[in-house]
Amino acid sequence: MIKEQLEKIRERADAFIAQADTEQALEEARIRFLGKKGELTGILRGMGALSAEERPAVGALANKIRENIEQVLAERKEALKSKGMELRLRAEKVDVTLPANGKKVGHLHPITQTRNRMVEIFTGMGFEIAEGPEVESAYYNFDALNAPADHPSRDETDTFYFSDDTLLRTQTSPVQIRSMIGRTPPIRMISPGRVYRCDVADATHSPMFHQCEGLVIDKNVTMGDLKGTLATFAKAMFGESTRVRFRPHNFPFTEPSAEVDVSCFVCGGKGCRVCKGEGWIEILGAGMVHPNVLRAGGIDPDVYSGFAFGMGIERVAMTSFGITDLRLMFDNDERFLEQF
Ligand code: DAH
Repeated sequence: MIKEQLEKIRERADAFIAQADTEQALEEARIRFLGKKGELTGILRGMGALSAEERPAVGALANKIRENIEQVLAERKEALKSKGMELRLRAEKVDVTLPANGKKVGHLHPITQTRNRMVEIFTGMGFEIAEGPEVESAYYNFDALNAPADHPSRDETDTFYFSDDTLLRTQTSPVQIRSMIGRTPPIRMISPGRVYRCDVADATHSPMFHQCEGLVIDKNVTMGDLKGTLATFAKAMFGESTRVRFRPHNFPFTEPSAEVDVSCFVCGGKGCRVCKGEGWIEILGAGMVHPNVLRAGGIDPDVYSGFAFGMGIERVAMTSFGITDLRLMFDNDERFLEQF
C-alpha cells in the first residue's frame, strides 16, 4: 500500500519536474515533494504505523525515491542552465559576415580642399609655405607694405584693431615682409591663411575669409615671370584651356599693379551664369613688388626685383565648385558640405 503511494509520488515528481522550466518552478517542485511539509516527508512520517518487518524495506524504498527525486531535480537544473545559455547565445548572436553598417567618414571642407590644391600646385613650382600671425602689427600689415598712416586702406572702420598698433591682419601681405627680413633672395613663397575685415556678411563678403599670398624675389624677376606663373597656376587649378587677363589696378605694395582674371572655365569666355556674362572671373591682385616694400624687408631694390600676388581662396573655391553664396561656406550645414 505504502509502497504504491511511494511509487506514485515518484511518478508525479518526475512529471512535475519535467514540466518545470524555470529555476523557481524547480524549487517549488523540490519543496512540494522533498520539503518539510512535502509529500514524501508526509509518507515517511506515517511509517510509525508500519510493522517492524515492513519498516526497513519501506524505509529503503523511501530513501531510494528521495535520492531519485533529488537526482531528477539536479539533472533538470543542469538542463535548464544549458538551455538558458543556449537561449542567451541565440539572442546575442552576431553575424560577423554581415556588411558593416557604414560609419560616415567626413571629408575636407571645400575651402581646405581648395587651399590644399593651391599649395600642391605652387609647391610643385618650387614655392615654399610661409606662415604669419593673424594678430599682426599695424606696421607689418600697413606701413611696411607702403601704406603709411594716412593711407585710406588703414581706415579704422574696415579693420579690427586691438590697439593703435595691433590688429587682426586684413590681408596675408604682411607675410611678405616677414619672409624677406633676415633672408637673402631667391625667395619663393606662398602663404595661405585667414584674414579679417570689418565687413557685414553677404553673398560675397565675410568678416573672416582666406587668402593665399605669393612672393617671388630674385635678380631679374619680371612681369613676364608673374604672368607665366599665374597662367601656369590657372591652368592647373581650372583646366588646361584657361587663360589669364591682367587689368591695371593700384595697390600700395606693388608697382605696376594688376587685377587678374581667369577665363570662365564653364563657358570658356563666352559669358554664362557662373561668370555673370563676363567671360572672365577675377581671382586675385598682383604686381611687381614696390621698392619701398623691398627696402622694408631689408632687400636692395637696385639688386633684386620681385612679384607678388594675393588670391582669395573662397573666391577660387566658389568659382571652381559653383557656389553662389559665400555665407554657405561658414554655416557648417552638413547638407551643403557633403556635396563637395
Ligand atoms: N593684399 C591684397 C588684398 O587684400 C591682395 C594683393 C594684391 C596681394 C596685390 C598682393 C599683391 O601681394 O601684389 O586685396
